[in-house]
Amino acid sequence: MTRNAETIACADHEADPALAETFSERMVEVLNSGALALMLSVGHRTGLLDAMADMPPATSAGIAEKAGLDERYVREWLGAMTVGGIVDHDPVTEDYYLPPEHAASLCRKSPTDNIAVFAQYIPLLGSVEDDIVHCFRHGGGVPYERFDRFHDVMAEDSGQSVVPALETHILPLVPGLTERLEQGIDVLDVGCGRGRALNRLARLFPRSRFTGYDISEDAIRYAAQEARAISNDNVTFKVFDAGNLERNGNPGAYELITTFDAVHDQKDPLTVLRGIRKSLADEGVYLAQDIKGSSHHHSDRDHPIGPLLYTISCMHCMTVSLAQDGEGLGAMWGREKAVEYFKAAGFRNIDVHELDHDFQNYWYVCRP
Ligand SMILES: C[S@@+](CC[C@H](N)C(=O)[O-])C[C@H]1O[C@@H](n2cnc3c(N)ncnc32)[C@H](O)[C@@H]1O
Repeated sequence: MTRNAETIACADHEADPALAETFSERMVEVLNSGALALMLSVGHRTGLLDAMADMPPATSAGIAEKAGLDERYVREWLGAMTVGGIVDHDPVTEDYYLPPEHAASLCRKSPTDNIAVFAQYIPLLGSVEDDIVHCFRHGGGVPYERFDRFHDVMAEDSGQSVVPALETHILPLVPGLTERLEQGIDVLDVGCGRGRALNRLARLFPRSRFTGYDISEDAIRYAAQEARAISNDNVTFKVFDAGNLERNGNPGAYELITTFDAVHDQKDPLTVLRGIRKSLADEGVYLAQDIKGSSHHHSDRDHPIGPLLYTISCMHCMTVSLAQDGEGLGAMWGREKAVEYFKAAGFRNIDVHELDHDFQNYWYVCRP
C-alpha cells in the first residue's frame, strides 16, 4: 500500500508502523531481485543458463563440466539460483535442475524474449555508478565510451525484440510497405547501432538499397562485418552524426527512414528529426520505435517495467545526451512529447501503434 495524492497532501510526517513494516519487507525483496538480476546476467554471459536448459538434473561438477567453467564458482551461482527459486535442487543427490518453464524465459533458444538478456542492463549500468554519482553532484553526463558493453547488450536486445518481429508485426504497420520494399526503395536507418535490424531487412529485400548511420565507429565496424559475413551487398554502413543530417544529408533521398530506439538519447533530438524529415521523399514514411512511456511519472506507475526503464534512462539515455551538452530527454520522454517533437520537425500525419507482444515500445508511423 502507498500514499495517494490526498494522503500526501495531509501527511503529518508520522510513520504508520504497518505501512513502514510492509514497505521494509518490499525493500528486502528489491535487494534480492537486484542480486538475482546480476546473477542471471552472469548465467547468460557464461552460458550456464543455456547449458542447464538442455540438461537433466546434474551436480555442480556435471554442470560446470558441460559449461566449461570453474566448479567452485558454478556451485556458488547455483546457490543463488536455488534460493532465488530459479533452479530446483535435490538435497539428497545434490542435483540441480532448471525446469523447462523457467528455461523458457532465460535461454538463447527461448521462444519468447530471453529475460536474461535484459538482466545484463543491471551490471552494465552499475559499471558507471561512480560516474553517475559524480554527475548527480556536479552535473554533466557520462559519455557512450564509458559503457564498455553497451553495443553488445543493445544488439542482443534488438536481436530478440525487433528483428524477429520485422516481417510479421513491424513492417505491416505501414500498409503497402512490404510490397514497396520488394520492388526496391531507398532506406535509411538512423542510429543503427550494430545493424541487426538493417542487415535483416537487406537480406529480406534484395532489390532495395539500405544505409545505416551511427556515430559509433565500433558499432559501424561490427555492422559492416556482419553484412559481409552474410553477403549483403545492398547495405552500406557509415559513421555519421545524425545531428548533421539537416545540413549535410541527402534531401528527399529515402522512401523509408527508420529509428529503432535512437531519438531520445540524441544530443539534439529535434535537429535530428528535422534532418530525417528533410531526407525523406515526399511520399516517404518515417517509422520510429521508441520507449513506451507517458511523459508523466504518475501515469507510468502501472508500466510493467517502469522502474527498469527509468533507471536505464537516468543511467544511460539521459546521461549520454547530457555528456554532449545535449538536451537529456531520457528514454521516458513519453508519447505526448514524442508526438510534439515529430510535429515540430514537420511531420503532419502521425499514427501511434502498440504491438501485442511488445510492452516496451510505441511504434510511430510519421508522414510529411
Ligand atoms: C539505444 S541505441 C539503439 C541502436 C540500434 N538502433 C538498436 O536498436 O540496436 C542508440 C544508438 O544511437 C547512436 N547515436 C547516438 N547519437 C548519435 C548521433 N548523433 N548520430 C548517429 N548515431 C547516434 C548510438 O551510437 C547508438 O548506437
